[in-house]
Amino acid sequence: MVNICSKQWTNINNELNAKIISELHYEEVIFPDPINTNDWIWEVDGVTWVFKAKQHIWQNLVIDSDSITRNGKPNINSAELITDIAKSIRLDDIILGNLIEEIQQTLYADLIAYQHRNSYSLAQLTVLSGIALQAILKGHPKAIANKGRLGWGVNELARYAPEAAQSFQLHYLAIDKSLTQIGIELPLPLDKESRSEPVNTQALLLAQLMSTADKNRLLDKLNQHGMKSDEYWIIPIHPWQFSQFIVPQFTALFANNSLIDLGVTGDFYQAQQSIRTLSNLTSPTKNDIKLPITILNTSCYRGIPGKYITSGAVLSKTINQLCQQDEFLTQCNLQVLQEWAGIHVPQTTQMRIPGTPYRYNEMLGVIFRQSPAALLQSGQQDKLAAALMQTDNQGNSFIAAYIKDSKLDVQTWLTRLFDCTVIPLYHLMCQYGIALVSHGQNLTILFEDNIPTGLAIKDFHGDLRLVDQEFEELNIFPAHIKKTLTRLPANYLLHDLYTGNFVTVLRFVSPYLQAEMGYSETEFYQLLNARIRHYQAQFPTLKERFELFDLLAPTMEKICINRVRFKVGYQDTSERLLPELGTPIANPLFREQEQHYSIK
Ligand SMILES: Nc1ncnc2c1ncn2[C@@H]1O[C@H](COP(=O)(O)OP(=O)(O)OP(=O)(O)O)[C@@H](O)[C@H]1O
Ligand SMILES: [Mg+2]
Repeated sequence: MVNICSKQWTNINNELNAKIISELHYEEVIFPDPINTNDWIWEVDGVTWVFKAKQHIWQNLVIDSDSITRNGKPNINSAELITDIAKSIRLDDIILGNLIEEIQQTLYADLIAYQHRNSYSLAQLTVLSGIALQAILKGHPKAIANKGRLGWGVNELARYAPEAAQSFQLHYLAIDKSLTQIGIELPLPLDKESRSEPVNTQALLLAQLMSTADKNRLLDKLNQHGMKSDEYWIIPIHPWQFSQFIVPQFTALFANNSLIDLGVTGDFYQAQQSIRTLSNLTSPTKNDIKLPITILNTSCYRGIPGKYITSGAVLSKTINQLCQQDEFLTQCNLQVLQEWAGIHVPQTTQMRIPGTPYRYNEMLGVIFRQSPAALLQSGQQDKLAAALMQTDNQGNSFIAAYIKDSKLDVQTWLTRLFDCTVIPLYHLMCQYGIALVSHGQNLTILFEDNIPTGLAIKDFHGDLRLVDQEFEELNIFPAHIKKTLTRLPANYLLHDLYTGNFVTVLRFVSPYLQAEMGYSETEFYQLLNARIRHYQAQFPTLKERFELFDLLAPTMEKICINRVRFKVGYQDTSERLLPELGTPIANPLFREQEQHYSIK
């Protein structure tokens, strides 16, 4: 039953309108003007939008969503706002139509997330387990249509979307090994049940997915087909992907027994914020499973490319070793959610078409990743960094609740946060030339008594990049692995931390501390500046690297993600899209009165 309550629908539209105006103002797509310090106006083609807003330290607007009016009328649907914006920028109607579909999908999903959050008090929300938390988070803070999921309808959303918080079993396929690309680094952790059996990779992988009884039933099925189990990989498939893409697009492989359908079985899973990564609800310490789902969500189709499969597992193992051997990173408690194994199966015809849409080359595969629950020591909780910018439905922030509950003052709490998140990531960049896209969904913060005490990183199949210079520290990576990784100039790599974390997480966090705890944004970013300089002072030998990766420069490039879609539209591309640049940002971390770090 679809449950659309008019008041909630109004709230959801108002909130999305506030986000759309705010982010598109930040990205310099629309140009509202201040009437006074609290009231703003945006006029286009005889239409007038008025709203209450405060301009914050990143020059972004934090808008009172209930105050927004169009020609004097409140409670306007987001589709109408988007249509006005489209007129003002002369957006092509084809793109506008598609954008409205994405916005409508986002609104519906936001409504379900809102209803889900409504069943908890703030106190209950702030103690949710890492998995339960995933169901109530608001999603990507910058993308205006952040829950587009084009290709899914209400039934799929009700079954598989994170905010639906439903558990489901996976579909299993046996795949002729000769068709696969793999990257596997053993050992996988064994559970008690499977310890008595001879160790083989397949058994280890299956032990992560199901009980021994389920596994035996699966292997029996394969034998009934007259197939030798050691010639096949058995892998899980997302049930939706199975019926929507795998059966119709890989039919020839079913016909010649290269693929064998083994049906639905095994442990129950629930979607994380990224939708395609699933947590094991039957045994939460078992691996998270990342599966391709060919839907367009935020910036791209969410498949799994073959490109990183052979390197991902070695990469995560190498980074893990590095984090354990580096004394500073150990002190910071930087942990790695290891990606033990990846398997990919190309679609044989599509792979021979060089310019085919990338989504056709990413339909079938799996990545096994250590779950945050497996890392937790007693007394620790895991929370996506995105939780720092989350509120309850009344607008009370989680971060203020965490700080109050921790009994620390704001400055001490933030010092802990920066020291275990920003600083180790910056060290990874300066000491080793390694960066990871550090947005709120890629970072898992480890908390003890509501105090940040560590960080777990993940997403090594594509979101980890290296500097394009030959730092000798990069020799920890085998040459063939280095070759598969994206290399970026230092001033680009810096944005994995600066834009990924400061602009895409902290920009949304600092206004809450100002509003709810009287901790100004100036203090917030000066503290961050101080922690970075405190770190730099400990590593005088890295002076040149600090100049190369300068987080404290007076201005920084502004990276705009929404503008890309307006420009490129929705047609298929053979590569993922690249962001656009806006006018440089006056860096809130820059402090003019202090001598800037310099080796000159
Ligand atoms: N706060 C957030 N910041 C960034 N992305 C978010 C956030 N919340 C939800 N998301 C969603 O998570 C995904 C982030 O993309 P990304 O490529 O980092 O992850 P992924 O590879 O899909 O999954 P995983 O991180 O589980 O490996 C997108 O689908 C995005 O819409
Ligand atoms: Mg991610």
